[in-house]
Amino acid sequence: MNKKYRKPIIAGNWKMNMLCSQTKDFADELKPLLPKNRSSEAVLCVPYPLIGSVLKAVKGLRVAVGAQDVSIYDKGAYTGEVSAEMLADLGVKYCIVGHSERRAYHGETDAQVCAKAKKLLEHGITPIICVGETLEQRELDITMEWVSMQVKGAFAGMDGADVRKCVIAYEPVWAIGTGKTATAEQAQEVCEYIRGVVRKLYDARTARSLPVLYGGSMNAKNAAELLACPDIDGGLIGGASLKPADFSVIINAANEE
Ligand code: 13P
Repeated sequence: MNKKYRKPIIAGNWKMNMLCSQTKDFADELKPLLPKNRSSEAVLCVPYPLIGSVLKAVKGLRVAVGAQDVSIYDKGAYTGEVSAEMLADLGVKYCIVGHSERRAYHGETDAQVCAKAKKLLEHGITPIICVGETLEQRELDITMEWVSMQVKGAFAGMDGADVRKCVIAYEPVWAIGTGKTATAEQAQEVCEYIRGVVRKLYDARTARSLPVLYGGSMNAKNAAELLACPDIDGGLIGGASLKPADFSVIINAANEE
């Protein structure tokens, strides 16, 4: 982390877990475990139907609420879609786009990721843009090319000012939900590379201010080592964000860095 230039972000991704009826207990359990003076931003990206109840449950905890996807359309006849304007109207501050599960199961493309990120920016929501290679790609030694292509695709047509309002999450697909974490060296190497791609595309200021998170089996045990890396500015946490005790250990680790 480099707190001089970037605010650390610890974001939970609840994926398709939890119920409205469980959100108050989650927040009540989390509350006493949060550090008093916090130098990092804590976020919970939750399923759409839970947004209202999580917003209510975390009131006063300095925990922002995020969504996990957004429509590329503004409004109208798009059954099942949720617009960026609707999310902003609710009080959503962050939204994940291009998660590998959406890319894999819903065929989401870099062009769609880019369109979604732009819609979010129009409504003042911070896009958390996910990139990352599969195990096959890592073994073929094309991780950097792949991730660089995803970053360039997501930022297509954006100027530096837009990019400075985004967050990138590097999530190696092989580390998601598998219990296999990238080593701190592997994660740092790719996060540093991503910053280099942004420096070349834009400028040093934009690269320096862009938060790059790591995601993929980050947990209470390995968070401190990952967060100590100079180009890892936080985490996007799946499984461990469902347990207040584990999630708070990660938030505390970011605080101590
Ligand atoms: P896990 O932390 O469960 O591996 O999930 C990571 C992730 O996909 C966060 O978006």
